[in-house]
Amino acid sequence: MATPLILVNLKAYTEGMGERAAAIAAAAATVSGESGVVIGVAPAFTDLAAIASGFSIPVYAQHIDGVSPGAYTGHVTAAQVKAVGATGTLINHSERRLTLAGIDAGLSAARGAGLGTVICTNNETTTAAAAALAPDYVAIEPPELIGTGVSVSRADPGIIERSVEAVRAVNPQVKVLTGAGISTGECVKIALELGTDGVLLASSVVKAKDPAAVLRNLVSLI
Ligand code: G3P
Repeated sequence: MATPLILVNLKAYTEGMGERAAAIAAAAATVSGESGVVIGVAPAFTDLAAIASGFSIPVYAQHIDGVSPGAYTGHVTAAQVKAVGATGTLINHSERRLTLAGIDAGLSAARGAGLGTVICTNNETTTAAAAALAPDYVAIEPPELIGTGVSVSRADPGIIERSVEAVRAVNPQVKVLTGAGISTGECVKIALELGTDGVLLASSVVKAKDPAAVLRNLVSLI
């Protein structure tokens, strides 16, 4: 059975760019090696190539545009992201929302390029809709808890349970992540007990003085 996925979104945080992005990726590789738990990162586009080529961990883009290579100024294509060595991409993050057509286009582009896919959602209804598109993962994150340090696992376990049920009813092949405020091994344990396949998180690791210590805590109860 596959281990859970711990996916750290570096967002556009100053503490998650450049050398800090590399330090967090190195911490992820170290803690993954120690624990056997798969830990990936989603750096900014500007760091994607360096992180993907420098570390043997899953590396996700934070977004792609669902367009084919060509005359699209200011877009990032699935082919570009794949070419620099990314494993997959987030689609429709709460901080990078897309139209339904945009989600579908991004998903098709990612699949066409051989990228893994994580569609982010905000409640059980959108989770069910996302599952119908058959991504590899749906990641349910209540937007009001993102970046607060208040864990979805504790503040709203019901949304995780209902989302897992919704995905199973629509397409049991789709795996489920949850996120928002995840900061400890206890948060991860609850999320897994509620039926998820891992967590998507950011601030607790990215803003930490010692990201490796937070990652060790996160995997400590798996
Ligand atoms: O993509 C992860 C995310 O939106 C959750 O952020 O800072 O609450 O872990 P955070």
